[in-house]
Amino acid sequence: MKAERLRKVPLFGGLTDHQYERLERWTDEIDVPTNKHLVNQGAYPHEFMVIESGTAEVTHDGTHLADLGPGDFFGEMALLLNVPRTATVAATSDVTLVVMHDRNFRAMEEEIPVIAERVNAIMEERRAKSADQGIETLGIAFRRATDPQRRAIPSSVSPCGHPS
Ligand code: CMP
Repeated sequence: MKAERLRKVPLFGGLTDHQYERLERWTDEIDVPTNKHLVNQGAYPHEFMVIESGTAEVTHDGTHLADLGPGDFFGEMALLLNVPRTATVAATSDVTLVVMHDRNFRAMEEEIPVIAERVNAIMEERRAKSADQGIETLGIAFRRATDPQRRAIPSSVSPCGHPS
């Protein structure tokens, strides 16, 4: 997606020209009609997404967790924690998304850690909120041979991928 549009997304605010060039390469734009599922709970994750325009609803086992709008992102949990999608996100209007494939998300974490920190901070708030609601959203972690440290993040899961 073009840098002039990325600059307007708060998550990507305040970067250098070089960093916007990198983001341009890592992102695509997709338009999605209302009611479409953007991610499905339990599915294997492939992308991280930011809403440029439109709205979406997050549900877990049919229970409403949150409403998302322009500037909000989703899809970070499964990628960062190596678990299946923790919730379903469905468009509640026509939506334009900034989409970043898994491997580009990893590159962004390495090259622009300030964005990764912003994503992490919001993710922790979301996890705390779900926990407050008594909702356990994390499943069993995937094994990711390329990144042994990531496998161990959820505390209830042993490094070999089986419940401890
Ligand atoms: P992921 O698990 O990859 O896919 C479903 C997404 O829903 C998840 O990442 C988060 O981006 C989002 N999500 C899960 N729980 C919440 C919550 N409590 N508030 C807002 N968004 C959430």
